[in-house]
Amino acid sequence: MKVKTLGQFIIEKQSDFPYAKGELSRLLRDIGIAAKIVNREVSKAGLVEILGETGETNVQGEKVKKLDVFANEQFIAAFKAGGEVCAIASEENDDIIPIDTEISKNAKYVVAMDPLDGSSNIDVNVSVGTIFSIYRRTSLSGPGTILDFMQRGTEQVAAGYIIYGSSCMLVYTTGKGVNGFTLDPSIGEFCLSHPNMRTPQNGNVYSINEGNYLHFPDGVKKYIKYCQEEDKATNRPFSSRYIGSGVADIHRNLITGGVYIYPTTTKSPKGKLRLLYECNPLAYILEQAGGKASNGAKRIMELDINELHQRTPLFIGSSQMVDKALEFMAKYKTEEV
Ligand code: AHG
Ligand code: MN
Ligand code: MN
Repeated sequence: MKVKTLGQFIIEKQSDFPYAKGELSRLLRDIGIAAKIVNREVSKAGLVEILGETGETNVQGEKVKKLDVFANEQFIAAFKAGGEVCAIASEENDDIIPIDTEISKNAKYVVAMDPLDGSSNIDVNVSVGTIFSIYRRTSLSGPGTILDFMQRGTEQVAAGYIIYGSSCMLVYTTGKGVNGFTLDPSIGEFCLSHPNMRTPQNGNVYSINEGNYLHFPDGVKKYIKYCQEEDKATNRPFSSRYIGSGVADIHRNLITGGVYIYPTTTKSPKGKLRLLYECNPLAYILEQAGGKASNGAKRIMELDINELHQRTPLFIGSSQMVDKALEFMAKYKTEEV
């Protein structure tokens, strides 16, 4: 079998963007390199000192594990060395990181990322991920500014995720479909394993942290009950699958068909997940694979953003399943989302 590496694929695809000078290709390649380094550390997390908490907390007040810090540093270093981005926004940093080095300060792109998603799963050898989202800068020159990140998801130039799972995979889109690459550890290369990924229009998996049930909006409660009802024609009851690593849950549902929901709760009245570096990139991937992403009422990628760490509820996955959940949201609407 002829293997196509991520590097070869990126070069081939460069002709899709005749006006581009290769910066985006180089940026994607840099992400691939940082991903391999993070994967190396994730895969030996059980062995080395790096495992465990640093004792610090991040902007959201959550415990930070050492691998979050490591992944954050690796990706930042890769972006700085690559010279293709003029600013970075990360879950792990309160403010943006403007880059003012000679090679980067006039770069075209900004990157937003969740360097390690699902970090509560690190200590128990369960899949974690990285999510990234790339925008063209709106500022004219010099290091990037916060305004460069205040763009709707529809303006994304590229987005993707890396899943550090039983295999390490990199999945990305530049708006022309979704392609997935699996790391072959024997040659140290991401190889095209999932060309033109499409998500089934329908599925029978629903993924939600049901422990929060009492705090969910009525529409979500009713939808969960719908998923659990017996009905041969629609293949119900559906299966409940929830890893607690958004990337892993959404990746599984992308492949098998399913819906992932993180709604508002009384504890998190705006939802838990972050629009800029979790929901928008995942929404872009899912839409490009034929699926949907909504906040319960509106398309995720059309939401206005005015804060770096803005949260939103998320309904994402197979289009018919998302539509069904939204039907319940509309029918039992009690509050504004
Ligand atoms: P992170 O590790 O980057 O903070 O993200 C965790 C997110 C997401 O990956 C996951 O689906 C969700 O939080 C799980 O939240 P609950 O534990 O509240 O279900
Ligand atoms: Mn996350
Ligand atoms: Mn994270």
